Amino acid sequence: MYEAYWKLKEKPFKNTADPRFLCSFPQHSDALMKLTYTVRENMGAAMLTGVFGCGKTFIARTLLASLSKNRYSFAYLDYPPVSGAEFLRAIVRTLKYSELPTKKTELLEDALLESLQALLLDDAREGKESVVVIDEAHSIEDERIFEKIRLLLNFQTESRFLLNLILVGQPELAGKVANIRQLEQRIAVKCHLEALTAEETKEYINRRLEVAGRSDPLFSDQVLVLIHQATGGIPRRINHICDACLMTGFARKKETIDEETFRESGKIFGSTIFPAQKL
Ligand SMILES: Nc1ncnc2c1ncn2[C@@H]1O[C@H](COP(=O)(O)OP(=O)(O)OP(=O)(O)O)[C@@H](O)[C@H]1O
Ligand SMILES: [Mg+2]
Repeated sequence: MYEAYWKLKEKPFKNTADPRFLCSFPQHSDALMKLTYTVRENMGAAMLTGVFGCGKTFIARTLLASLSKNRYSFAYLDYPPVSGAEFLRAIVRTLKYSELPTKKTELLEDALLESLQALLLDDAREGKESVVVIDEAHSIEDERIFEKIRLLLNFQTESRFLLNLILVGQPELAGKVANIRQLEQRIAVKCHLEALTAEETKEYINRRLEVAGRSDPLFSDQVLVLIHQATGGIPRRINHICDACLMTGFARKKETIDEETFRESGKIFGSTIFPAQKL
């Protein structure tokens, strides 16, 4: 709606995992590097934690997008499985190996584990690797699912893991995993994402504007500081506020986003986007 007004080619602050918009701050590039290492060096399992909206899904999806489809099969589970059998079925289905079996007996957990292992072994013989990402893993309630995850990590040849598994979730995931010692010991790589600093928030906003086609400054320095204070440096919240400011500035025919536009935007969009105490 406001793109042409602000001389943008596209919307700069969409909450999607578009790799063109990735801002590689040290914590993000380190996490991406460690997860890439886990997969390429066949380390077995990794865990990526961080507060809501700080970029975990973005990093996990960027990792998968960087892997060659000829060599890797992926399963990306973006909702927490509710039972062990559902978890295994989702993996078999999303790795796209074959249609799920139809016989009831073949859908039981043990049978699914057996057929998954056989399929992974076939792939390994052909030099193919499998990567399973379980996003929102902090919401897994049933410990038996963590137990299944542990069993999957037992799928190995003499020298290799048959699949690489990446657990992604909010900080409480680390606590859940720590309670299951045998699983915790199998997680070779751990990464954690924090909110952005004030300086990073400024770079983040300007970088996304640049990717969207605008290199002249648009947000005043004062507003960049206010955005950091209002969002705590959380990228998803920064996206919401910046988008609201661009919309307000467009509606009020402003030339830049100044403090007045920021506050006006807060009044229009309200406290779900702009925390009231920060205005
Ligand atoms: N390093 C980054 N560079 C550019 N944009 C980012 C970055 N990190 C996060 N974002 C933006 O923030 C949005 C929210 O990030 P994401 O969905 O990855 O958060 P999350 O940590 O998975 O949150 P949740 O815990 O709620 O699932 C992304 O869609 C993306 O637009
Ligand atoms: Mg996420």
